[in-house]
Amino acid sequence: MKLGLRRRLLGATTLLFVCVLSIRVTGQAPAPQMAEDVFKNVTVLKGITVSEFMATMGLFSASLGMSCQDCHAADDSKWENFAVDNARKRMARRMITMMAEINKAQFGGRQMVTCYSCHRGADRPRTGVGILETLYGPPPENPNYVIAQAPNMPTAESILDKYIQALGGAQRLAALTSYTATGKSVGYGPESAEDRPAEIYAKAPNQLSTVIHTGNGNITKTLDGRNVWIAAPLRQPQPVMTLGGKELDAAKIDGVLAFPGQIKQALTKWRTGFPTLVNDKDVDVVQGDTADGAVVTLYFDQQSGLLERHMRYTESPVGPLVTQVDYSDYRDVAGVKMPYKFTVTWLDGREQVELTQIRPNVAVDASRFARPDPTTAPARR
Ligand code: HEC
Ligand code: HEC
Repeated sequence: MKLGLRRRLLGATTLLFVCVLSIRVTGQAPAPQMAEDVFKNVTVLKGITVSEFMATMGLFSASLGMSCQDCHAADDSKWENFAVDNARKRMARRMITMMAEINKAQFGGRQMVTCYSCHRGADRPRTGVGILETLYGPPPENPNYVIAQAPNMPTAESILDKYIQALGGAQRLAALTSYTATGKSVGYGPESAEDRPAEIYAKAPNQLSTVIHTGNGNITKTLDGRNVWIAAPLRQPQPVMTLGGKELDAAKIDGVLAFPGQIKQALTKWRTGFPTLVNDKDVDVVQGDTADGAVVTLYFDQQSGLLERHMRYTESPVGPLVTQVDYSDYRDVAGVKMPYKFTVTWLDGREQVELTQIRPNVAVDASRFARPDPTTAPARR
């Protein structure tokens, strides 16, 4: 992400953080709510969950190098104000329709053209080749996130076996059945100024809850093995968002990677790509599909065999929604190598967690993995 873009997104985060959230009562129903049921003025992006809808907003911002305010009223002190239309927002709507028509008419409905295909991080797409040097420069990055099995590469299974071995072996992994951890979260932008204690609760095979204490209340992300909920103050339009569809399927990979012994079974259609560089390390690249068809790419440090990064992709009406998690500072916990640092980056935010202590095989109350309560924000100044 370019620095300029990050600054602009950061401005957006500041604004959202000082805004007063109007809480909509959404009921306790486990099913995720659709955007058109929660928002006032959705005419095109219907049939996706609130969480997916917000991710498409992040995708717009990233694809066009814009912040939220560039398309929405400058006065976004209330979530309702995002419903107000203006020329740019209407233009963006027309673009969504145009894009869908091109994909339908020219590419049999496959999502080949996205906002990013034309805009490449700019409000107005370039019409010319631009700098001729690029013609002879390094080859462009792979245009598609779905990779095919590369010729003469080790099988994904052998790379995953090496990973299991590097972590401490299948036996030690199987013996780790729960853990709790404490540390802190370094947000980015205005959030990084405050001290934000973080806690993690995890139970095999796939339950995981992360709690970050902020000045505005807790941010809680909970996977109970089947559902994923995010409770957060201010920064999301619903107090508790329930993930659904492929996004839910993709998010569950966090639970699997909390106890990676079952990683091979968690995804299907494994394939190996060409090795590449991630965080200045040579990495092996393997990719697999979730049951719902979301795509997960795992990058393993060739030297240590450990997981350096995972990327997960789900389709949306306007292009792939992507989340990246980077892992580092692996240390030994009950004979298993565990990352003490991880950074989660999504289309409109980033969270960096640094753990100080991990306690293996401790009792974790089942209530930790229940749907979190809406965050009650402390009294505003
Ligand atoms: C490129 C323009 C663009 C950018 C940038 C953008 N949006 Fe939107 N936003 C739209 C459009 C277009 C709609 C209406 C979609 C529809 O009608 O289906 C919308 C609708 C919304 C809504 C629903 C409001 C309602 O009640 O109807 C919310 C909330 C929202 N955007 C939040 C955001 C946030 C937060 C950001 C920054 C992360 C953002 N948007 C960035 C174009 C944009
Ligand atoms: C086929 C190429 C193409 C695709 C795909 C595309 N755009 Fe555009 N877009 C353009 C062009 C060209 C312009 C400039 C039009 C002009 O200047 O009159 C533009 C302009 C815009 C503008 C107005 C920018 C400004 O300066 O005010 C917005 C907003 C926008 N696009 C949003 C989107 C969104 C959101 C998507 C994805 C849903 C998207 N576009 C997909 C080609 C594209």
